[in-house]
Amino acid sequence: MIFVTGGCGFIGSCFVLDWLEQADEPVLNLDALTYAGHLGNLAPVERNARYHFVRGDIRDRALFASLLEKWQPRAIVHFAAESHVDRSIAGPAAFVDTNVNGTVALLEATLAYWQKLGAAQAAAFRFVNVSTDEVFGSLGPGDAPFTESHPYQPNSPYSASKAGADHFVRAWHHTFDLPTITTNCSNNYGPRQFPEKLIPLVIHNALRGEPLPVYGDGQQVRDWLYVADHCSALRAVLAQGKPGATYNIGGRAEMANIDVVRIVCATLDEMRPSPDGQPHERLVRYVTDRRGHDRRYAIDDTKIAGELGWAPSVRFEEGIRRTVRWYLDNEAWVQSVTSGAYRQWIEQQYSAGRP
Ligand code: NAD
Ligand code: TYD
Repeated sequence: MIFVTGGCGFIGSCFVLDWLEQADEPVLNLDALTYAGHLGNLAPVERNARYHFVRGDIRDRALFASLLEKWQPRAIVHFAAESHVDRSIAGPAAFVDTNVNGTVALLEATLAYWQKLGAAQAAAFRFVNVSTDEVFGSLGPGDAPFTESHPYQPNSPYSASKAGADHFVRAWHHTFDLPTITTNCSNNYGPRQFPEKLIPLVIHNALRGEPLPVYGDGQQVRDWLYVADHCSALRAVLAQGKPGATYNIGGRAEMANIDVVRIVCATLDEMRPSPDGQPHERLVRYVTDRRGHDRRYAIDDTKIAGELGWAPSVRFEEGIRRTVRWYLDNEAWVQSVTSGAYRQWIEQQYSAGRP
């Protein structure tokens, strides 16, 4: 059995669904069901005998210790986090609580459990810490992409909290020998992403004929990875990654935000034209830039490609088509997650003058 934290979120749910399709091994999902976690994301497997769900907080050491004792997992894949940069600017403390203190709580409980395992089980055990490329800070236009040895230079409260968590994971390996692995992945997109992030927000607003907010000049560059490819990379890391190592994961798809928005708009023009026949791109509005906005992220994936033979398989245009199709086919999901709390966030975030 493996444990997953945060399996009701965007990437965690993709990981659990794919895992149950591709492996025989059971999975236990521990998730607090914050605004970003939705039980409906795992509706297709809720009756699967190999799937177990526990609603709980990763900061609850006693709960996690009791789950470890009961289920004796051979690995933990840790996704649970506060994950949205703009929310971290509006309220940083929650990011420290969940991302730093939550990860340390998991490490403490996991170490106590791991130290009681027999030699063979202890050697085979893995704690995979799912992190982000944002911990490396911002690149200039001509800079080389991030390698695993790039210095940590987090710029937002979100990336600082993820960097903090990564440092503790590293320390638990170095000091206590816990077999941890950290992955630093670029921006994901795909089905079930909460519509506060750029791509689902653009799809959501475009379908309603509402403005598409592009921060600053729209020339910030991100590297985009289809979420199922991130999950295949994590399976490879879990199976073959070296304890104590870190792996960068990317999509080989660097793009300026405005180009991403244009591609999403063109895909919608084709798959769901506006009632008035006008291109969706007419809805683009340049708005005040995000504070401290990182200019560019880019991933050098030489290590994971060479050591683990992993490469992304879905090209950006194809991934966007699949993503748009999913949002068009799942309007009920969008309606259920865009509740009062969602509307309140959008109101606060995009009200006149501040992105
Ligand atoms: P998400 O916000 O969609 O999901 C987070 C999940 O964690 C939710 O189900 C939420 O309920 C749960 N959670 C939050 N706080 C919790 C707590 N205290 N205890 C238990 N569960 C809690 O996030 P995501 O986009 O799926 O990201 C998953 C992980 O991948 C995060 O660690 C994130 O930093 C990392 N990551 C994300 C991206 C991206 O582009 N989305 C890229 C690289 C890395
Ligand atoms: P986001 O999806 O929030 O991911 P991250 O900040 O983790 O990279 O944003 C992706 C990029 O899109 C980022 O450069 C900020 C920008 N952006 C906008 O221009 N408008 C928006 O409404 C949002 C949410 C993001």
